[in-house]
Amino acid sequence: MGTPIRLVVDGVEIEASPGQTILEAAEAAGIYIPRLCHKSGLEPFGSCRVCTVVVNGRFQSACTQPVAEGMVIENDTEKLLAIRRDIIEMLLVEGNHFCMFCEKSGNCELQALAYRFGITAPKYPYLWPEREVDASHPDVFLDRNRCILCGRCVRASRDLDGKHAFDFAGRGASRRIAVNAEGKLAETTAAVTDRAVEACPVGSLLPKRVGFQVPIGKRLYDAEPIGSEIERRGGSP
Ligand code: FES
Repeated sequence: MGTPIRLVVDGVEIEASPGQTILEAAEAAGIYIPRLCHKSGLEPFGSCRVCTVVVNGRFQSACTQPVAEGMVIENDTEKLLAIRRDIIEMLLVEGNHFCMFCEKSGNCELQALAYRFGITAPKYPYLWPEREVDASHPDVFLDRNRCILCGRCVRASRDLDGKHAFDFAGRGASRRIAVNAEGKLAETTAAVTDRAVEACPVGSLLPKRVGFQVPIGKRLYDAEPIGSEIERRGGSP
């Protein structure tokens, strides 16, 4: 464990263990820092910047920054909420997210964050990209139109499934999720039971033939906002 590290988040002193990230330490203390590319159990990636906090006056990604003694962290401020809201809005307009027709609705972390941040209509123009849909696999559906390039499938396939079924290809606006095959997903070793499929925070990787088994209204984020389970640990209502 080592000697506890003390830091302050939004004026509240918390204790952390050496080696924890700011996000992990805050979470253990019942403070929710929004996140998208981060998933517990996966190597931190630091790509989406939804977890941006201010540490001693400087912007940092909470999911990659290790704790240090005496850190003073801003998390729940108007300035940071506005930055995160902008990131979420840009992710929404950059892809094709038709939530009302998506099997992931109610379980989707991007949608849940949009609700938590009160986003009803993004202020940025929709880009309506045309991206490849890969339905070749007998059990898994890959829709790049909903992909937010968080890389969770890449890390889960590599580190948890030991398969390297997914990776990034291309650069900049052309960056996309590629599969480890000459052709399509069906030619990879990916399976519906892979942690990579479960790791997708949106409806980009979905198991086939399980559509709407859990009705809309009874799904994970239908009952309460994303992050509530963490905040309850801190004694919030
Ligand atoms: Fe930290 Fe994405 S959750 S950068």
